[in-house]
Amino acid sequence: MMARITASVYTSHVPAIGAAIDLGKTGEPYWQPLFKGYEPSKAWLKANRPDAIFLVYNDHANAFSLEMIPTFAIGCAAEFMPADEGWGPRPVPRVIGHPELAAHIAQSVIQQDFDLTIVNRMEVDHGLTVPLSLMCGQPAAWPCPVIPFAVNVVQYPVPSGSRCYRLGRAIRKAVESYDGDLKVQIWGTGGMSHQLQGPRAGLINREWDKAFLDELIANPERLAGRPHIDYVREAGSEGIELVMWLIARGAMSDSGPGGTAPHVQHRFYHVPASNTAVGHLILENR
Ligand code: DHB
Ligand code: FE
Repeated sequence: MMARITASVYTSHVPAIGAAIDLGKTGEPYWQPLFKGYEPSKAWLKANRPDAIFLVYNDHANAFSLEMIPTFAIGCAAEFMPADEGWGPRPVPRVIGHPELAAHIAQSVIQQDFDLTIVNRMEVDHGLTVPLSLMCGQPAAWPCPVIPFAVNVVQYPVPSGSRCYRLGRAIRKAVESYDGDLKVQIWGTGGMSHQLQGPRAGLINREWDKAFLDELIANPERLAGRPHIDYVREAGSEGIELVMWLIARGAMSDSGPGGTAPHVQHRFYHVPASNTAVGHLILENR
C-alpha cells in the first residue's frame, strides 16, 4: 500500500473571486460566466474526493513579509487560519493540515536535494483559499486535509520553471514512498496573464495563455524550459505566478520516462476577472 497522486488541478486565485463568493455575488452578470466554468469541477471533486490535497500557491506578503522570504515553504502544521490583505481574512473554514504526510514529503524532497523551508505555524491567504472556494463552494469544512506549499513568486529572485517542474517530480516520488493508502491531488495555482502595477497594468495575453495551457498538457518538459523573463514580458509581472503550475504538472505520472499522458478532464478560460485572465485545468493520471 502506498500513496499516489491521482489528479492535478490548475486554477487562478484572483481575490475578487473570493469576495464575490463571500458577498453572495456569484449570480451577477459579471461573475456568472466565470462560476459556470467551475460547475463541472465542483461535481468532479465531489465524485473524486482525495484523502489530501497538496496545494501549491503563493503568499502575498500575508504569511511572509519582506523580512523573511522562503523560496519553497511546506506547511507541516495541524491547521492554518485564513488571513488576507484588501477585503481582510475571508469567512472560510480553517484549513486542516496533514502533518504526517507533510513531514514525510519534507523528509523525502529535502533528501532529493530541494531545500524546503519547514513551516510549523502559518496563515493562508487568497492564493490558497480562493482555489479551494472555486473547487468546493461554501462548505462548513473543507472536504479533506490540505498541505499548503508556498512558492515565492513575489520578490525577485524567483525559482525557474525547470526547477519547479523537477521539484514536482521529487514531490511525486515522495508521495509514492509514503506508507499509507492515500489518494493525493496536487493543485497548481495562480496566474494566468496579469499585471497589477506600472505602465502595463491590466495586461492580458490570451494567445500566451492558450499556448501555455496547450503546452502544459502536451509538452510540459519544453514549457518548463522557458526562462522567467518570458513570463514577465508575455504574461505580465504577476503572470510569473504560472511557474507554480509546473510543480503540479511535474508531479503527474508522465513527467518521468515511460509515463502515459494524463486525461484532460476539464479545461476553462475566461477573461477578465478583476485584472486577471482566469485559466483552469483538471488532469487525471490514467
Ligand atoms: C489580482 C490578482 C492576483 O493574482 C492577486 O494576487 C491580487 C489581485 C487581481 O486581478 O485583481
Ligand atoms: Fe496573486
